[in-house]
This record gives sequence, C-alpha cells and structure tokens, in this order.
Amino acid sequence: KAIEWDLEAAEKAGYDHFMLKEIHEQPTSLKAAIAGRLDELKGNVNIKEITLTEEQIRNIRHIVIIACGTSYHAGMMGRYVIEELTDLPVSIEIGSEFRYSHFPLDESTLVIAISQSGETADTLAAVKDAMRNGSHVIGITNVVGSTLSREANDIIYMLSGPEIGVAATKTFTAQVVVMYMIAIMLARARGSISIGKASKLIRAIKTLPQKSQLVLDMEAKIAETASLFSKSGCFFLVGRHLNFPVALEGALKIKEISYVMSEGFAAGELKHGPLALLTTGVPVIAIATESELYDKMVSNIREIKARDATVIAVASESNRSVEQVADLAIRVPDSCEYISPILSSIVLQLFAYYVALARGCPIDKPRNLAKSVTVE
Ligand code: G6P
Repeated sequence: KAIEWDLEAAEKAGYDHFMLKEIHEQPTSLKAAIAGRLDELKGNVNIKEITLTEEQIRNIRHIVIIACGTSYHAGMMGRYVIEELTDLPVSIEIGSEFRYSHFPLDESTLVIAISQSGETADTLAAVKDAMRNGSHVIGITNVVGSTLSREANDIIYMLSGPEIGVAATKTFTAQVVVMYMIAIMLARARGSISIGKASKLIRAIKTLPQKSQLVLDMEAKIAETASLFSKSGCFFLVGRHLNFPVALEGALKIKEISYVMSEGFAAGELKHGPLALLTTGVPVIAIATESELYDKMVSNIREIKARDATVIAVASESNRSVEQVADLAIRVPDSCEYISPILSSIVLQLFAYYVALARGCPIDKPRNLAKSVTVE
C-alpha cells in the first residue's frame, strides 16, 4: 500500500492533485493535438486519419456530433465552428438520448463521436446505430486501442497523455481544438472558406499553447478569486455563442469536484426563468471576452446586476470597461473569438479546482462519479 502511494506522489510530479497537474499540462497537450496537422501557409489542416475523399466530404448533407459529459460540451463548440465555416447543418446529441431517438441517419450524414475514454457505453451505442445506417463515423478519443478507436471508421487521437483526474480538463481543450481543425478541413474541402481566412484561424490556433501558459501564470489571482467565493451555496455561469458551452463546462467542473450546485446558461435565456433565482450576492460568472456579442453580454450583465447578484467577469486582457458593470474581473490574453473560449475554460478549471480545494473535497475522485462510464 505504502509503495502505491509513493508511486502516486511521483506521478503527480509535485502537484497536490492529478487534476491540477493535468490543468498545467495544457500548453503541452494542446501542442501535441495540433502538431503536424496545421499548414498555415496553404490554409490547410492535415488530419490524415480522416479517410473521406474530397468528393465524399462534398457529398455530406448533415453532421451529427454525439458525446456525453465534458465531451458533449466540446462537441457543442465544434458545432458552432463547423456551422460557421461550412455550409452544413450540424446537430449535437447526448449519447444516452440519441440512442433512443428516431434521428434519421444515412450515407449523407457524417457522425462525429467524441469520447475521451473511448468507452462510454451510451456514445458507443449511438456509434453502432449510425454505422448500421450507413453513416461514416469519425471518432475522437484519447485512449489508443479503446472500443471507439476500434469501431469508428476513422479515429483521431487527441494525444493528451493519460488523464487520471475524474474531471476532464486537458482532454476537453484538446477535443475543442480537434473539432476546430476538423471544421477547417471540411470547409476547405467544400470550398466554403477562403485560404486567407483558414490561414488566419490556423495562426490563431497555433498561439494556443503559449496563451494557455499565460492563463496558467495567473493561477494565484484565480485561486484568490475562487477562495472569496468558496463558501457560496451555488454558482451561475453565463455566456453566449462559444462561451455558452464554456459556461456549461465550467458549471460541470464546479459541481463535479466541489459538490456546489452550479448551472450554466446561455446569457440570453436568463430572462426566461433563471433571473427569478438571482438575489443579493449570488455569484454569477459571466464570460465576456471580446467578440461580436460582447455588447449583448454587457447588457446581460446589467440585467444580472439589477438583481444585485455578484458578477465575476472573465474578460479580455485589454478590455477596461467591464469593471463598470461587473464586480470583479479575471483576465484572459487577448485573442480572437474562437481562441478566447478555450482560454476561459482553463480559467474555469482552475476556479473549480480552488473552490473544491477550499472546501476540502477529494478532487481527483469525486463521490459517485467514474472516469469512464461503461454501463448504460
Ligand atoms: C464521465 C466522466 C466525465 C466525462 C464523461 C464522458 O462522466 O466523469 O469526465 O466527460 O464520462 O466520458 P468520455 O470518456 O466519453 O469523454
């Protein structure tokens, strides 16, 4: 037994928890996910694991993304980006729902199944169903030799290295970046994106390893903010567009490891119910990085402040106006609206970690949860 513990300590490489170690591995894991796959000059993404020909890609009529948990949130982000860069409609489905739905599937549908472990029963059942109906399935997983890797037509490895903490962190950001790369690749094959626009996005993606390090460098400030709110009975997280799934994922992290009730909302939906829950001092994390929807987000923050809730904004470095509406701000490096959501999600991983730490929770092994759920 004693030996096991020593081994575990060694594997944590000086960090108190695997989760913290894995959060800190993101500059490396993001680099691994993109290595050899990006051609900035030509505006091309080379994912040689995808066996579809350009003609087959042009014949796709619909994309369905299937995943569970954190992977589902990465899929939501992928959906926005694929829809923006291609002319294709994209649906995103939870594995456990999809397998009992009557979703029409055929050869013209491309299915993308995302599963860190590659063993999630609900996702695998949906994949089987899709393949029976003739759809081409691209799997995205982190585990070599996993069931998904054997069953999907094509398999893309995230190359994040083993993830031990039950709450997914580095594999989430890798999944998102893989989805972005798939989006560019599909868009180039379908001629729906210019080389210039693709190169620009590729250039932005290449900055991720370094920018994620800049977020990690702000750990102390994030930890301090988290400790101010660690006794809160609930958290609201709000965002729009790509920052909506970031809010959902942030809320999931908080509930998984700190057992605090937390919910993510699309900021525009607050007025349809959640506003009724906001009272004095309720902490609301508002993801308000620079984007086309920034002004809309500011209006949402005002709605929240009007109920006297406390707003912690996640804002871009050079933004100096957010303090006029929010109570506090955590900064992420300036970047385009595709990249900043990934950086914000790292902020929220650290925030969740430090809330859980202050509450004395068993961070790597939260009660009632498993790293991979191989039963229905
Ligand atoms: C479990 C894990 C989550 C994970 C989900 C989906 O619930 O605790 O962290 O997001 O399964 O797992 P997958 O391996 O399919 O991504």
